[in-house]
Amino acid sequence: MYKIFRTTALLLIIGFIAHVGSASAAAGSFLDQAIKLMEICPLLDTHIDLPQIIRSLNRRPLDALLQLNGSFPGHVDIPRMRQGRLGGAFWTVWAPCYDVVDEDPGPDFNTPTNHLRDAMEMLDIIQNMIARHSGDLQYARSSAEVWDAFRAGKIASLIGMEGTHVLGNSLGVLRVFAQLGVRYLTLTHTCHSAFASSAGPGTPIAQAHEGTGLTDLGKELVRELNRVGIMVDLSHTTDATMRQAIAVSEAPVVWTHAGARALWDHPRNVPDDVLSLIGDGPGQKDGVIQSIFFPPFIGPNPGANVSRVADHMEHIARIVGRHRVGIASDFDGMWTTVDGLEDASKYPNIVAELLSRGWTPEEMCGVMGGNLMRIMDAVDAVSERLKGRLPSSAIWEKRKDLPSTKWGGGGEQVYWPRDVKDKVEKMQLRHDEL
Ligand SMILES: *[C@@H]1O[C@H](CO)[C@@H](O)[C@H](O)[C@H]1NC(C)=O
Ligand SMILES: *[C@@H]1O[C@H](CO)[C@@H](O)[C@H](O)[C@H]1NC(C)=O
Repeated sequence: MYKIFRTTALLLIIGFIAHVGSASAAAGSFLDQAIKLMEICPLLDTHIDLPQIIRSLNRRPLDALLQLNGSFPGHVDIPRMRQGRLGGAFWTVWAPCYDVVDEDPGPDFNTPTNHLRDAMEMLDIIQNMIARHSGDLQYARSSAEVWDAFRAGKIASLIGMEGTHVLGNSLGVLRVFAQLGVRYLTLTHTCHSAFASSAGPGTPIAQAHEGTGLTDLGKELVRELNRVGIMVDLSHTTDATMRQAIAVSEAPVVWTHAGARALWDHPRNVPDDVLSLIGDGPGQKDGVIQSIFFPPFIGPNPGANVSRVADHMEHIARIVGRHRVGIASDFDGMWTTVDGLEDASKYPNIVAELLSRGWTPEEMCGVMGGNLMRIMDAVDAVSERLKGRLPSSAIWEKRKDLPSTKWGGGGEQVYWPRDVKDKVEKMQLRHDEL
């Protein structure tokens, strides 16, 4: 499906080159070229935290989102997205890690927290945001639907989920989120989870799992993500988590918002030796690295600017190829911005910067969204191939509530038929007594 759109886009690009001419060199003309190109190919930003701003501004978040068509606090609102020619965005389903909200799941990650409720509410905010602003936003789940929205003049709206700490340690929960349209899952945010080890917030955090990578359940999660067609996002994870996920995943992987560690030494950035695992050679996996705009990852900070973001993209491209990089702002999820990319009205600046460095219009259509959509299609194809595989029955090994031996209630008059009660009472493994 994507191929058809790709061909159409290519024809338009050829027309575009004939129209703009390739010789124009003045800085202003690169911006003009960027804007024209953004009318042909959608720029897809894979990480925008607008839903958390909506949730933070009103006791009744659904009331706050009504104002998005005007001037809205933060980096993003509809007028600025339009000015910046944004073609589409992944809105983030996220809730802060435990420490931020004074919750503690305990060493086994078993003490209940509000994270799952909050993640569901964030998804509800996104659904309502799209519905209330249907003149500007259009829900999209696949590359074909991104193009549908783009051709209809709408901003394609996809759903990404950041962190596995919101999943209640459950693959069942993950499967339901897949049905609700989540298209990528970041394997951690800044905290470890029952599934995976995190790179932390920038300062080292205590190890939670042997080998500082995936748990057994985390490996099962990656396989389940492949089966249900959710992209495996390695942003925020430890290097060991990245390596193990790349090895386990049957589908391409993504970094939805990350930089290059060789240019700025932050544990959140991708090191060269991990980048070298991405490709189509032996032992490699296909993937895409979407470059982030957040100054502490881009460096120098303060002083990071649009050229510096382009440096990260060029460094990454030198290792993985220009067809494996993309754009991710992290707007509304950061306290500071790079010069030249201060808010959603500024996207053309990064496109112009790369055009000025000799990236071709065709390469730029890839960087803006084509590369990511190619990976999304490949992930969908793997999911289609795995259609016959049964859902994983794995559970978090440290759970103590399964089997649910207390669900019958106590005493003689229980919620269970007699034979069930007898069986439960004779069971060898009663997790609630472990
Ligand atoms: C936003 O939309 C509402 C309802 O559709 C409308 O009343 C309001 O004037 C709009 N605000 C702006 C700034 O366009
Ligand atoms: C970004 O900063 C660098 C280093 O200070 C400077 O050389 C470059 O011209 C700046 N780029 C832009 C677009 O301002």
